[in-house]
Amino acid sequence: MDKQKVVILDFGKSVKQLTARRVRDMKVYSELMAGASTLDDIKKASPIGLIFTGGTAGDYTSKERELSELSLPIMKVFGSEPADIELESFLTEKCRAAHDWNMRQYAEVLVEEIRQQVGDNKVLLALSGGVDSSVCAALLSKAIGKNLTCILVNHGLMRKNEPQEVQDAFRDKDMNFIYKDASDRFLAKLDGVTDPEKKRKIIGEEFIRVFEEEAGKIGKVDYLAQGTIYPDIIESGLINGEGLIKSHHNVGGLPENIGFKGLVEPIKLLFKDEVRALGKELGLPESIVTRQPFPGPGLGVRIIGPITKEKLDILRDADYIFRDEVAKAGMAQDISQYFVVLTDTRSTGVDRDTRTYKYTAALRAIISSDFMTAKWARIPFDVLEKVSERITTEVTDISRVVYDITSKPPSTVEWE
Ligand code: XMP
Repeated sequence: MDKQKVVILDFGKSVKQLTARRVRDMKVYSELMAGASTLDDIKKASPIGLIFTGGTAGDYTSKERELSELSLPIMKVFGSEPADIELESFLTEKCRAAHDWNMRQYAEVLVEEIRQQVGDNKVLLALSGGVDSSVCAALLSKAIGKNLTCILVNHGLMRKNEPQEVQDAFRDKDMNFIYKDASDRFLAKLDGVTDPEKKRKIIGEEFIRVFEEEAGKIGKVDYLAQGTIYPDIIESGLINGEGLIKSHHNVGGLPENIGFKGLVEPIKLLFKDEVRALGKELGLPESIVTRQPFPGPGLGVRIIGPITKEKLDILRDADYIFRDEVAKAGMAQDISQYFVVLTDTRSTGVDRDTRTYKYTAALRAIISSDFMTAKWARIPFDVLEKVSERITTEVTDISRVVYDITSKPPSTVEWE
């Protein structure tokens, strides 16, 4: 893009992501590059200024010398973060930044970039209904219209109303949209399986099979699109080249041998909240734009023990109530992820004067910025009480609700 850009030249692993984020919050576009980038690399990026992070005074001095012919303003960050005021003054006074970067303009730039990359070729996108793939779909649809085909595979492990919400958002757009309800296939493969890792493997493999079959029906496709986002790239070490690419991270491990010309990853330089902002800009419904993270294996890893259609329906209803009450309490944006787990435990209960023996549901809610660590969310007792009352009243197969008060570590966010 030919907009003003500040490059954050990162020499290690410290505050780079945060700094990139903060520069963008000040309406100046920023990109991360490895400390080892050459003079030519930096020239190509044509930034209006450089910020050095994660290095020593020695690293910075030699780099500054190497890049001296560019005569760019340089800010050197040692240890933790520059203060806002320092950063702001560097951008305004030294870099003469116009502070005019915004999502509307960026959307236009991305649309143009997609057109240039794929031309008249055909692009295929596996749409999960999550924020990232949905924003990709909206963006690609705007850029190439009918040359885009989106495939939504319903593995039967989606949340209540989710398949319909995703179809409603995309079906009548100017793109080819394929909805494949493959629930029965997935459930048949999962029949009797209790081991969490086995469940994940089965779901991942079956997804690939269904996707391949559907892709095969539409003829020649040149590019595969995926909703990789900036943290995926940063966390996998691509900036400094110290790690491996998470292969097809966002599409559940799609096979590499389908024979595509290449990948289209239009939002790979955006942070999660920027992806949401872009989605809003592109007119996606609130229900999709604000969607919390949802694992590829879906409700399959939220049912302990064997997965059945009956249990899935019970879980969907309970999960819907929890989400509804959190939203009504105005807490939806304060909690990073919240959902219900259907445990494999039944317990004794009482309904009027009759003994019952029904499922125990667990509520899980966490606060996290990176999901590598997480704190359990302090949801007020009156909200929890309402959720418990509603679940035990409205979902006839659940008679006990517990609240998970463990952080990560030692537990993980998902139960399986
Ligand atoms: P854990 O359970 O590992 O979850 O603490 C961390 C975050 O990752 C999500 N998660 C997944 N996402 N495929 C995904 O796309 C998966 O297999 C998967 N497992 C966990 C989880 O929902 C949380 O946001």
